[in-house]
Amino acid sequence: MKTVTLVPGDGIGPEITESVKAVFKAANAPIAWEETDCGLNAYERTGTLMPQEFIDSLNRTGVGLKGPTTTPIGGGHRSINVQMRQMFNLYASVRPIKNFKGLKSFFEGIDFFIVRENSEDLYKGIEYMIAPGVAQGIKLITAEASERIGRHAFELAVKLGRKKVTVVHKANIMKYTDGLFLDSVRKVAADYPTIAIDDMIVDNCGMQMVTRPQQFDVIVTENLYGDILSDIGAGLIGGLGIAAGANIGEHCAMFEAVHGSAPDIQGKNLANPTALLLSSVSMLEYMGELETARRIQDAVSVTLANADTRTKDLGGKLGTKEFTAAVISSLK
Ligand code: NAI
Repeated sequence: MKTVTLVPGDGIGPEITESVKAVFKAANAPIAWEETDCGLNAYERTGTLMPQEFIDSLNRTGVGLKGPTTTPIGGGHRSINVQMRQMFNLYASVRPIKNFKGLKSFFEGIDFFIVRENSEDLYKGIEYMIAPGVAQGIKLITAEASERIGRHAFELAVKLGRKKVTVVHKANIMKYTDGLFLDSVRKVAADYPTIAIDDMIVDNCGMQMVTRPQQFDVIVTENLYGDILSDIGAGLIGGLGIAAGANIGEHCAMFEAVHGSAPDIQGKNLANPTALLLSSVSMLEYMGELETARRIQDAVSVTLANADTRTKDLGGKLGTKEFTAAVISSLK
């Protein structure tokens, strides 16, 4: 039995985390939950968005599953996700892009991952006004972070039986920064002779994703390109509402849905737990529980494929609880 830190979060967070708990229990997943909280509920109780008890728990367990959290507007509060990424050095953001039968998509057979470097590039925030009307931002790329994310992508490919890693860059124009990124990932590739490597210029990649997305297996890229391509990927498979996310570091990993806390439907049994369930599948894969991950993913897939067992946001009839029961009854 492995222990995972569970953050119910705000808004619909508690409803969709209950759904994951019920599915894990029915699937006999070898996971024990250590429940703690972050976000607005935690703030009202403790005066801080990220209480020490959560920080201690994640440091102890090394793996977390998080419902969406509400960052209070005003008062200078920093986003919890940004704080978490920095505090736990979560340098890799991983998005599975897989389409499910029954969900709107222009394509069939999409099944790849986008691995995004999360700690540097233009998002480092090194920006200046160098004169009135003239601003400058610095793109920071290091060999160390580029090799680290490259290794992450290849390790993911090995673990999940993937065949190819595509490095996405713009080294034809940014010869030093993107050139360094590309060279660093290529250097790492030498340690993984069974996985093929190719590379693609980012603008072409955007076009290929929306014309021939089936060609991709694992994409590895820098922070800014990864941010944009991840959302194109979410659009390809039916929108942000079902997109799963992961932020992974050397010692800790946090899995969560991409959508927010949806306060407009809180407590109404209307929340679709699919994105968090798919995040929990990524979490099980990360923990090496591949068989349980596959069983849960297959059950979600079967449930979504049937128009009678979809939630209302996807044009179906079911509430959160009924959808959860349908997933459980599809478990093999
Ligand atoms: P949102 O994603 O919460 O909601 C946008 C729309 O999608 C709403 O109509 C909502 O009802 C619907 N929706 C979202 N998730 C759904 C689900 N699972 N099932 C059915 N319908 C769903 O985005 P919004 O309104 O911009 O943000 C609300 C709050 O969430 C804000 O406080 C924001 O800071 C926070 N947020 C938190 C995130 C996180 O913790 N990772 C990510 C994005 C926003």
